[in-house]
Amino acid sequence: MDYEVELQPGRDQTEESLVVRHADGTTDEFRLHEYERVYAIAGLYEEVVQRRLLSASATILAERLVACAAEGGTAAADLAVFDLGAGNGVSGEELRARGVGTIVASDGIPEARAAARRDRPGLYAEYLVGDTDDLAQVPELIREHGLNALVCAGALGLGHISADSFHRLWTAFPPGAWFSVSLHEDLAVPGGSDFGDYLAGFEERAGGGEILVREPFRHRLTMAGEPITYVAVVARKPAA
Ligand SMILES: C[S@@+](CC[C@H](N)C(=O)[O-])C[C@H]1O[C@@H](n2cnc3c(N)ncnc32)[C@H](O)[C@@H]1O
Repeated sequence: MDYEVELQPGRDQTEESLVVRHADGTTDEFRLHEYERVYAIAGLYEEVVQRRLLSASATILAERLVACAAEGGTAAADLAVFDLGAGNGVSGEELRARGVGTIVASDGIPEARAAARRDRPGLYAEYLVGDTDDLAQVPELIREHGLNALVCAGALGLGHISADSFHRLWTAFPPGAWFSVSLHEDLAVPGGSDFGDYLAGFEERAGGGEILVREPFRHRLTMAGEPITYVAVVARKPAA
């Protein structure tokens, strides 16, 4: 690592920022949520989010998905996952480590795909860039790759992916498909966010499914060292 990084706590997750001091004497300062700038520096996301802030979302979601699939009679190797808001591939790497075969990714920014290709070449069968609603090719990709699971680690709420976009994507998945997602505990309750409302009505709604896991866990630490609690939710569509 040819830089040093200093963490600067903010009022909330969206305000937290980093100061990066490069070996050549230059300095960059930006918010952790300015992902295009974070991904541009190889290893920075892993150093800050995984090593210092102890992020667990990608691991928990992969573990819970693989466990639920196994209970339902599907081996990890037979899962084919769409990794929504995939970033530089940390979530995909956790899936692959548990034996998931095919993984297709998308992210809203091109810097995420460039970083995934730079840092984890070959991890993803395909990597789309754009807002999910603008990616008309997704239903065809789901059929082509036999995708049967949707994972979204740390990319719901907080100005990221909306519940409506998520549901439109979910409706393109086949009967018996799973999703495994995480979001802040305050956003996961009815009235807490669009996704909290979505989850509250999910089991009754046409095209919804059954919620199999709803588990609070420590997503990561704030830069001030306080735990941030997220909820992991795994659900499954009814079989045909
Ligand atoms: C906290 S990062 C998580 C990355 C990865 N899933 C992981 O576990 O490390 C959130 C990611 O969501 C992406 N994102 C935010 N809004 C999005 C949108 N509307 N469509 C697709 N990706 C989006 C961001 O660019 C960012 O890469």
